[in-house]
Amino acid sequence: MSVTVLGLGPMGRALAGALLRAGEQVTVWNRSPGKDRALVEQGANSARTPGEAAAASSLILVCVVNYDAADLILRTGDVESALQGRTVVNLTADTPSRAREVDDGTFSGADNPITSAASSMAHIVHAAEAHGIDSGVMRAAEGLARRVIGRGHGEDGFMRVAGLLTPAPTR
Ligand SMILES: NC(=O)c1ccc[n+]([C@@H]2O[C@H](COP(=O)([O-])OP(=O)(O)OC[C@H]3O[C@@H](n4cnc5c(N)ncnc54)[C@H](OP(=O)(O)O)[C@@H]3O)[C@@H](O)[C@H]2O)c1
Repeated sequence: MSVTVLGLGPMGRALAGALLRAGEQVTVWNRSPGKDRALVEQGANSARTPGEAAAASSLILVCVVNYDAADLILRTGDVESALQGRTVVNLTADTPSRAREVDDGTFSGADNPITSAASSMAHIVHAAEAHGIDSGVMRAAEGLARRVIGRGHGEDGFMRVAGLLTPAPTR
């Protein structure tokens, strides 16, 4: 598989390194030059522009500081046209309100229902604990997902947990 990683902070570098170790064909791009050096030594292709990076792979992972940065990278003419027919996975985190804007308030789980997210998290918890890694945060996230599923929202997306986290109005 060919995979592009846009954004080489600690998370992007870790992802690109893991993909290279798994034998994937990896292309990387980062706003500031130089962060790709170790990855290129391990076999990654270094793209000069986000458009070139997007055109290089069938799967594009975006991993930058927030949604504004992701928009700056993705919403340009050459990147938008390069992305036609490719799969984009935005791993960038932002605030719950920004996530709700992106989700447009429908909590749609059409692409990734919360049942699927909960089962992925269970795998991560299991694998982490088998390696002696503390999985408390992931267990908490899985617990929230299971509560949402228990309330009958299993077909919604993970953002449905926002309803559990919003404080009830005080009298
Ligand atoms: N680190 C983790 O364990 C972890 C875990 C889960 C989720 N995440 C999420 O993954 C994302 C990346 O996290 P991270 O820890 O790798 O790094 P980060 O410090 O959150 O973000 C750094 C990355 O964002 C880029 N960036 C910042 N502003 C930009 C802009 N205006 N245009 C283009 N690129 C810009 C940086 O490029 P430059 O190098 O040019 O500054 C760098 O590649 C975040 O959303 C984070 O919340 C991280």
